[in-house]
Amino acid sequence: MDADLESIVARARQQIASVAEEAQLADAKAAFLGKAGALTGLMKSLGSLVGEAKARRGQALNHAKQQVEALLNQRGADLRQAQLEQKLAAERIDVTLPGRGIGTGGLHPITLTIARIEEIFRSIGFDVADGPEIEQDFYNFTALNMPSDHPARSMHDTFYVAAPVVEGQRAEPLVLRTHTSPMQIRYARRNPPPIKVIAPGKTYRVDSDATHSPMFHQFEGMWIDEDVSFADLKSVYADFLHQFFERDDIEVRFRSSYFPFTEPSAEIDMRFSEGPLRGRWLEVSGSGQVHPNVVRNIGLDPERYIGFAFGSGVERLAMLRYGVDDLRLFFENDLRFLRQFA
Ligand code: PHE
Repeated sequence: MDADLESIVARARQQIASVAEEAQLADAKAAFLGKAGALTGLMKSLGSLVGEAKARRGQALNHAKQQVEALLNQRGADLRQAQLEQKLAAERIDVTLPGRGIGTGGLHPITLTIARIEEIFRSIGFDVADGPEIEQDFYNFTALNMPSDHPARSMHDTFYVAAPVVEGQRAEPLVLRTHTSPMQIRYARRNPPPIKVIAPGKTYRVDSDATHSPMFHQFEGMWIDEDVSFADLKSVYADFLHQFFERDDIEVRFRSSYFPFTEPSAEIDMRFSEGPLRGRWLEVSGSGQVHPNVVRNIGLDPERYIGFAFGSGVERLAMLRYGVDDLRLFFENDLRFLRQFA
């Protein structure tokens, strides 16, 4: 090849090798093959030659041009490849690393216990109802035969909530419900007899130790019809306990008590005849025949309708079923405790 062409190709080789980005390759191309490029200029001068010399020079020029084009193409391909490798390295995923895993949650033991209670009562024909935790004083006390001056109100250490002011007037006092009994009134006012319902949920009292928590769960039960008796209460509740604990060695007794909204009233006690708690009477529920005043407050005639109600502690039953000795464990959210139920 002609010496001048050789030196142009050598220059091109050098310049193209120093290009670091694909975009700069166009400049290098222009410098040699563009309109004002080094080789293009020589191509034009071909016109001044003739015959053998013209053919030879033309061949040499073409050859040089092809070499420069090949260099440009090769560099372009190299740069694209390098870029791809860089990207792959940056986005590299180590597929051999152990996965993060998907933790499976579990239901809280109190949730499990409530679900179990609902299932058992549903199977014996009870509806399940739900109501507000911030309750009107009227439903929590007054309608349950505890007018504002009634001494029995002091049986409950109540959390009062500032009543909202509506149109310049202070609304009725509100309380965090101290029991689920307000649901007796709420449900019975909306549903005609026969009334057969349980109402589980949160309740609140100013109380805190190993067996009392300021927030706890109860479930209310009520059955009202024209001929429901204490015998029905005993059979329903005893049946419930047997199913709840899945045991036959359970005795149930009624112990005389007092509640303003039932008359007569009774505590329901149970005892196991086997196992570590054998022989000890355990109080599990308050109960009684619905007071005529409450039947009246519901809007029914107490001469015609009669029934029973009970209110039981969910934590108490859960503690007995699972053998938990401190109520606070349910609310501390210690995963070592909770995982045992998942
Ligand atoms: N509401 C009562 C309590 O929380 C329990 C109860 C419910 C008693 C229904 C009798 C009838 O102490």
